[in-house]
Amino acid sequence: MEGVIVPEHALIAHKLTRLRDKETSSVLFRNLAREITQILMVEVTRDLSTISDNRETPLSPFTGSKIASRIGIVPILRAGLGMSDVAHEMLPMARILHVGLFRDEETLEPVYYYDKLPTPPNIDLAIVVDPMLATGGSAIAAVSRLKETGIENIRFVGLIASPEGVSAMRDAHPDVMIWLASVDERLNEMGYIIPGLGDAGDRIMDT
Ligand code: PRP
Ligand code: URA
Repeated sequence: MEGVIVPEHALIAHKLTRLRDKETSSVLFRNLAREITQILMVEVTRDLSTISDNRETPLSPFTGSKIASRIGIVPILRAGLGMSDVAHEMLPMARILHVGLFRDEETLEPVYYYDKLPTPPNIDLAIVVDPMLATGGSAIAAVSRLKETGIENIRFVGLIASPEGVSAMRDAHPDVMIWLASVDERLNEMGYIIPGLGDAGDRIMDT
């Protein structure tokens, strides 16, 4: 699928299996979500441009490199918080920009309730994190809001998507590349991903 990267990785497959399991506790679920996010963060940052960074080891000067762009990590509240801490640990120089959205359970439409976005933007690249891309409505709305503030370079990292959600997101925002641990079979009539993992926010927050 164009614009969508699903790394084939034995560790992702192993950890995702446990993440999906209904017997997995909330504590273990959070750890697994963090560990899979860590692997996906390695992938989403693979091609970031770098500039020279001149330093000295105890023995000699050397020219190293540092990431050139100012990065913002954008968790979609709530469930995105289960991914943003570890993303921030890997990119400690990044800013965190929150976007609050929930999905209306009847209509499945995203409902916007909060954001904390600087205008004009003080980042060059936004990495949006949310475990689930189901209908795609929440991710599409979050990216639209980021674009409204002037952010042009946006990537999305999720754990599990439906084929329908990926198509909707690619149609709405073809410029936004997507990194995922899995694209599952389908959405059910309630808008849940099958086989999926159930409600990500509830499992992360133990609600
Ligand atoms: C979940 C998930 C996404 C959204 C995906 O959040 O974390 O944000 O649903 O569904 P969509 O692609 O159909 O929009 P939810 O609305 O349950 O809110 P929460 O994170 O506060 O639990
Ligand atoms: N949100 C979730 O948390 N899980 C789904 O399967 C769909 C939307």
